[in-house]
Amino acid sequence: MLQVNGLRVAYGGIQAVKGITFHVEEGEMVALIGANGAGKTSTLKALARMLDSAGGSVRYRGKEINRLPAHDLVREGIALVPEGRGVFPRLTVAENLEMGAFIRNDKSEIVRDMAHVYDHFPRLKERETQLAGTLSGGEQQMLAIGRALMSRPKLLLLDEPSMGLAPIMVQKIFEVIRAVAAEGMTILLIEQNAKLALETSKRGYVMESGQITLTDESQALLHNPKVREAYLGE
Ligand SMILES: Nc1ncnc2c1ncn2[C@@H]1O[C@H](COP(=O)(O)OP(=O)(O)O)[C@@H](O)[C@H]1O
Ligand SMILES: [Mg+2]
Repeated sequence: MLQVNGLRVAYGGIQAVKGITFHVEEGEMVALIGANGAGKTSTLKALARMLDSAGGSVRYRGKEINRLPAHDLVREGIALVPEGRGVFPRLTVAENLEMGAFIRNDKSEIVRDMAHVYDHFPRLKERETQLAGTLSGGEQQMLAIGRALMSRPKLLLLDEPSMGLAPIMVQKIFEVIRAVAAEGMTILLIEQNAKLALETSKRGYVMESGQITLTDESQALLHNPKVREAYLGE
């Protein structure tokens, strides 16, 4: 579904992503793990065309997308849940979800999908008319994921969904991520929480200083001594 070849991202003269190659197959959940500053967010932003890459190719369902404008990617079925969530604070929960469906005009299906988001996150249903800015961090993360789902993506890009959240909230959110994956969604998951990401995904890539240094089945990475030492605190 996604084939990235030699992707580079630079900020001025500083290379943050130094020519990485990886892929995600349809229906697969793939984790990209790495320390703070490794270049994970830059990679995801380049994929979602939130910033221009400095080189490389990104093929999505057989089509080169590395030069398309960001809003076209939403139409192509790529949804990004950004680091820090990015919900609209002055809109209600329901309005945020409606915004997620802005490219669609199939009213009855939108209503159905919204009900499905509320099935995943009953908390959001309870807070349907509340302003998003008044939600807790975990609830905002739920809303950001729900909003992304409202565009009916084929590929979901998640940037650090566990960041800054209490363990109970992380658990809830990852339950839903697993449920969405079980429904057949293709997911690229970025996490600093390597244990959680590898326990949840099928395959993983390790990113260090802008490069991919290791890749394997997630189960194998969990047992890899290098990963255990560097990312699992052992
Ligand atoms: N807007 C920016 N301007 C300059 N440098 C940046 C910017 N965003 C990120 N960087 C740098 O790029 C590198 C990778 O950052 P980032 O992609 O955010 O890593 P990660 O998500 O893995 O923590 C870091 O060295 C960071 O300081
Ligand atoms: Mg990041």
